Amino acid sequence: METKLIPLLSPEDLATIVARLAQEIDRDYENRSPILIGILKGSFIFLADLVRNLQTPIANIEFIRLSSYGSATVSSGQAQVLAGLAEEVIKNQDVILVEDIVDTGITTTTALDYLQQWQPNSLRLCALLDKPARRQITVMIDYLGFTVPDRFIVGYGIDFAQQYRQLPALYLLKESSDY
Ligand code: IMP
Ligand code: MG
Repeated sequence: METKLIPLLSPEDLATIVARLAQEIDRDYENRSPILIGILKGSFIFLADLVRNLQTPIANIEFIRLSSYGSATVSSGQAQVLAGLAEEVIKNQDVILVEDIVDTGITTTTALDYLQQWQPNSLRLCALLDKPARRQITVMIDYLGFTVPDRFIVGYGIDFAQQYRQLPALYLLKESSDY
């Protein structure tokens, strides 16, 4: 199948967005030291850039892993926590969950509910991208980078069938039989 990558956000666009998000977090977390929890794998480059833009000292960086869609471009329904975190990592901490894309909302809602059970002092969500067109569950995004159309996105850590994560920019993936 023929695939085409259509540029969406350049590395410079992404750097501007990430710097702005870091400023928002710095402003809100003055005198506090949050822990950042990335959702694997899609958030790994975003998280790496975000922490390098933060002035706020970070108490910890952790990751959780949830079940993904596999290689399909449509959601398969429920998400499951495949790799979680111990209660003592979360309890009484100021937690910022870091996600690549909020699409249906299932993954972030599952992750937020999972973290909430360990009673953090506070819990916020930072998402690079919001794709509101396909939302199934309402999600409050405290720090949002960019709103995207109902298209399949790749690059900057975000994959299609584990490919394209290494691209330094964001693209719309166009397939002849898709979209
Ligand atoms: P949700 O559970 O439907 O909100 O989906 C969240 C997850 O689906 C994200 O963490 C991504 O891994 C994946 N996802 C959603 N949209 C896209 C996309 O356009 N490209 C690649 N992955 C996506
Ligand atoms: Mg993901």
